[in-house]
Amino acid sequence: MIRIRPDHLPTLRRFRRALEEWGYARACARLTDPEPAHMARHLARECASMERPPELAQENWTLVALFFLGQEQVRAEVELVLDPGLLEDLARVGLVDLAGGTVRSDRYMIVLLEDLPFIVSRLRHARTEEGSVAVYFGLDTVALVERTRAWDGVGSVLDLGCGGGIAGILAAIEGRARRVGGTDLSPEAVEVARANAAMYGVEYHCRHGDLYRPVAGERFDRILADPPAIPVPHQIGLAIHGTGGPTGDALVRRVVEGAVRHLEPGGELYAVTEVYSSSEDHALFPWLEGFARSETGRHVRVEFLGSRLLPEDYFLDLGRNLRYLPDWDPALEALAPGERVERHARSLGIRFGHLIGIQLRLLAGRPSTFEAVQTEAFARNGPEIHLDPGASQETCR
Ligand SMILES: C[S@@+](CC[C@H](N)C(=O)[O-])C[C@H]1O[C@@H](n2cnc3c(N)ncnc32)[C@H](O)[C@@H]1O
Repeated sequence: MIRIRPDHLPTLRRFRRALEEWGYARACARLTDPEPAHMARHLARECASMERPPELAQENWTLVALFFLGQEQVRAEVELVLDPGLLEDLARVGLVDLAGGTVRSDRYMIVLLEDLPFIVSRLRHARTEEGSVAVYFGLDTVALVERTRAWDGVGSVLDLGCGGGIAGILAAIEGRARRVGGTDLSPEAVEVARANAAMYGVEYHCRHGDLYRPVAGERFDRILADPPAIPVPHQIGLAIHGTGGPTGDALVRRVVEGAVRHLEPGGELYAVTEVYSSSEDHALFPWLEGFARSETGRHVRVEFLGSRLLPEDYFLDLGRNLRYLPDWDPALEALAPGERVERHARSLGIRFGHLIGIQLRLLAGRPSTFEAVQTEAFARNGPEIHLDPGASQETCR
């Protein structure tokens, strides 16, 4: 596991520059075209065994095979494209393992957002390890990043449950936020967020702990959150980036409640979450409305980012846990997980897996109101990634 010490900071900066010079973004884009590389992360497990296309030289394949696909590489070949001293340093950071003349990056992968590399967990770590504390990255991360686009030199940002810290760090890199930091219950996420910030020389104050607890008494201009949202009873083990309590919205309610104590006047919380229900009947919505009405002088706006049925492969691992949902039909156990999820959803008459955004704005002196706005930003099905190049083209689903 990555553990960041002050002497690791120059290593991570050198690593990011080396990836840029090598053309990591371009190499990943060749694999994932026509979708952007960030869409491919949840498919990396299926693609892991992809072979180097014959028309691609080894030196144009090594780093993408190692850091994107997670394939073990011959150390001598990696050293042709990455300085041997840097490689040793990356092993000390915990990003790669060096053993028996090979290099592996099993635990982490390097994803791209805006063509910029960030460290996150490999999906097999994120989803299949019970009680895993792995570092999340998903389409909801991208939704969070999209939300920061309109910022123009925001003062202070708290990335709550920051995972790899990508949304805040990217906003700082691009000059849209001046002070960024985060909290996370996962010690590994805290370390990785620090590592990601170090890659770009961004100061990122990341603290370990439960939601707002590490920032007691502090206020921020913006709070970002992408809390776990899978409905699972407490006794069921699931990675902490996923568990949203029995109804899935336990964390998001705490995020919204706490924001009032941690936003500067005029500040905004933006939370993205999933609801496993139709957008009209989930208990979260009347709860939000009640919250808005009870908070005098506050304005709560709920923005639905359209209803997007998440891709089937998203549910392959998730499917195991869905039998704990209300009204689960045990006969569905016999079906394949993806099919099981869809049938269950259909039998309940729900459009499954809505990704929604919640925006809470603190406006002193205004009467409370509650608004629901429907946008089409996510109104499309999940990605279908085509692996290129040329003859070896393969659809990875
Ligand atoms: C779905 S992930 C989102 C990560 C990141 N914000 C992103 O968008 O990629 C949820 C994150 O919340 C963290 N988390 C879960 N429960 C938490 C809690 N009680 N307090 C703080 N963080 C928590 C998880 O470790 C995970 O990193």
